[in-house]
Amino acid sequence: MSDVTQRLEELTLGTRLRLEELIPRESLVDLTASYHELFGVPLKVFDGSGKLLAEAGPAPSLYVWLASLRGARAALEYVVDHVKQLDPGAGDVSYPCVTGASYRVSAIQYEGRRLGRVIFGPYLGAVPAEVPPELLLAEPDLDPARALALLAEMPRAREETITQVVAHLRRGLEIILFSGHKALLTSNMHLASVKESFKELQAKNQSLQEAFDRLKELDRLKSNFLATVSHELRTPLTSIIGYSEMLHEGLAGELTGEQRDFVGTIKEKGEQLLELIKGLLDLSKLESGTMSLRKSELSIAETLNEVGSTLAPAARKKNVALSVQVSAGLPRLWGDAERLRQVFLNLTENALKFTPVGGSVTLSATATELAATATEDEEDDDGAVFFAAKRPALQVRVTDTGIGIPEAERSKVFDAFYQVDGSSTREAGGTGLGLSIVKRLVDGHDGTISIESNEPQGTVFVITLPLQRAGQR
Ligand SMILES: Nc1ncnc2c1ncn2[C@@H]1O[C@H](COP(=O)(O)OP(=O)(O)OP(=O)(O)O)[C@@H](O)[C@H]1O
Ligand SMILES: [Mg+2]
Repeated sequence: MSDVTQRLEELTLGTRLRLEELIPRESLVDLTASYHELFGVPLKVFDGSGKLLAEAGPAPSLYVWLASLRGARAALEYVVDHVKQLDPGAGDVSYPCVTGASYRVSAIQYEGRRLGRVIFGPYLGAVPAEVPPELLLAEPDLDPARALALLAEMPRAREETITQVVAHLRRGLEIILFSGHKALLTSNMHLASVKESFKELQAKNQSLQEAFDRLKELDRLKSNFLATVSHELRTPLTSIIGYSEMLHEGLAGELTGEQRDFVGTIKEKGEQLLELIKGLLDLSKLESGTMSLRKSELSIAETLNEVGSTLAPAARKKNVALSVQVSAGLPRLWGDAERLRQVFLNLTENALKFTPVGGSVTLSATATELAATATEDEEDDDGAVFFAAKRPALQVRVTDTGIGIPEAERSKVFDAFYQVDGSSTREAGGTGLGLSIVKRLVDGHDGTISIESNEPQGTVFVITLPLQRAGQR
């Protein structure tokens, strides 16, 4: 069987139509009961494999009595066996019993397929005047008076009536089977289409997962590559800087003014390159999660003042007013002093870099609160947070009066190598690594960083750092 025909067979149920699937069992039981009530004749319904599905009407008293007599019981069993095996073809056939009664066997057909059979009987056409000779032959000692009395109690029907009843039942069943088949087909089609969409979804999921794994692997390779290259570049660069420093200081003999300038440039550019490489190394460590923060108690005032004095010469040179304003009595912070200095150094360098002559840059710190990241105990099954205490935190603002960052760029500047004006004619130097490192370091302290506008002009970087790590009270 080809794939398509097989699928079609499955959908349309092909040859596997079963009576029980098309008509609920209870409906069949009700139907047989109502036929028995109307015509008084017992009937039984069997499925295609001969299993009894429904029956109505008790066994006639004559048959109950005869079943207790040896000879008569054997004769009745013989009849019943034959009736059960009778093939009515596409229509119906009668079978006579030793009692003079009849059985009528009719096929249940649907779209040319045999789904089962109905057996009517036993019923009697007319009450006989004498005990039928076949019965006496089977049971010679039979009590004729009792037999005649019980024969008179038998369900009675004329053959034409039974023919009509059978035809009626067949038509009725056909209608029920048709609507049953339709319902079954519809639900099968529905099921098939659901299965199909599920399969498609699974396939898409799988390819997404594969793409994700591939990207993750690529990302890992990139981080490894960055780490290795930066590391390998650092050693020779340290030599270049060291030797140019020695030359610059005249350790290898006096230099002319021009030679000193050239060597000074080599040293300066070498140092820039070293900073860049350190940045790359930091980033790859942060991305691979291998950078460990050495946290201890620290004073934010100290950190910010250090940053302020480190960059004071640069600010003076550019004629930008740099100030540090820290509220008195701020609580101490739990963090990596070296890395936090790096964070604020980076932000302040940016602020100075993007603020024109005559502007100002301010570092300020105040106490605040941070919505706690809920621990698992505080979440219910759906992840809803019932109890999320605020955690004490410090807020540091790095404010400048510079060129500002447009709203649409604010989420992008934290990406590695992203610069708002990426053109080669851009005045400000740098590579676009600073903020991506800053963001990751702030994350590493469970803090948040965001960008606001400084009215009427400039940018404010707002960093909120919890005093303690999540879970620590
Ligand atoms: N205070 C600021 N004012 C205006 N634009 C800023 C400010 N800080 C950052 N930006 C914008 O965000 C970009 C990314 O900053 P980031 O510090 O990551 O890189 P960079 O300063 O260009 O280079 P690097 O820090 O690696 O030397 C900057 O190039 C600039 O366009
Ligand atoms: Mg920068």
